Amino acid sequence: EGPGSESLNLLANETEEYAPLVGPRGPANGSHRVSSSGSARGTRALLEMLDIHPDIVVAATEVHFFDWDENYAKGLDWYRNLMPFSFEQQITVEKTPGYFTSPLAPERIRRMNGSAKLLLILRDPTERVISDYTQVYYNRLESRKPVQVIEDVLVRNGALNTRYKAIHRSLYDVHMRGWLRHFPLEQIHLVDGDTLIRDPLPELQKVERFLRLPPRITASNFYFNQTKGFYCIRSDGRERCLHESKGRPHPVVNGTILQQLRCYFQEHNRNFYRMVKRSFDWH
Ligand code: A3P
Repeated sequence: EGPGSESLNLLANETEEYAPLVGPRGPANGSHRVSSSGSARGTRALLEMLDIHPDIVVAATEVHFFDWDENYAKGLDWYRNLMPFSFEQQITVEKTPGYFTSPLAPERIRRMNGSAKLLLILRDPTERVISDYTQVYYNRLESRKPVQVIEDVLVRNGALNTRYKAIHRSLYDVHMRGWLRHFPLEQIHLVDGDTLIRDPLPELQKVERFLRLPPRITASNFYFNQTKGFYCIRSDGRERCLHESKGRPHPVVNGTILQQLRCYFQEHNRNFYRMVKRSFDWH
């Protein structure tokens, strides 16, 4: 369960993670392509919300091209064929959870297109761990597998279990280092996943600017759904919320453990702020 098996864990699809969106220029039909990868939370929301924009088309599935060796071996044409049809001025977005924490994805993407633009969505890492746990918990319940209470996965032998995959995935500085070895910071746009939940429009407008798209996403594209407790999307005359698996209640975590978790992330977060020359409102 060490760091080396990180991308495999994601491939096992225990959970999704942050969402960097990768934006290579489209080789196939002349349109731009943006692939979004991810290994934190809010990736689906970001993708669905970007899909509102008329100049963005999104891939239907998570392609796992750059992080799964067996897919990467199939070659770029295989990847292109999984992209939706797009017109000349459109950007194709692909989101694959797992690219961000994959040690191989940055170099592979750069080799394909060094001028690719990347989007990375991040939440407070402590929140991300709990969100990660919650998703695994429900997945296991649904497939009738045994589940553990969150304290039992977060604590081992009386100490914080830093080998827990969800914790390792949340060490943003560790993973970001690999990306910055292959891409300049200016090519990576960070989306604040906590803000995206509370107030999606400004975060999406920043993405529009980053992708140099005309501003087309507006306040009228969102409405707050009291029952779900999240913003939902109004577009093309339709109203839709994210799947019921997104935004489920999180367990209440014991205060001491929560504090240990926050403490553990503190130095990593500081490193990350230095790396990206920006700070976030994380505990
Ligand atoms: P939780 O289910 O833990 O609350 P991903 O798509 O990467 O798996 O991320 C899922 C997370 O997206 C959810 O985590 C939820 O908090 C977040 N999210 C952000 N905006 C959302 C929205 N408008 N509707 C539902 N979930 C949203």
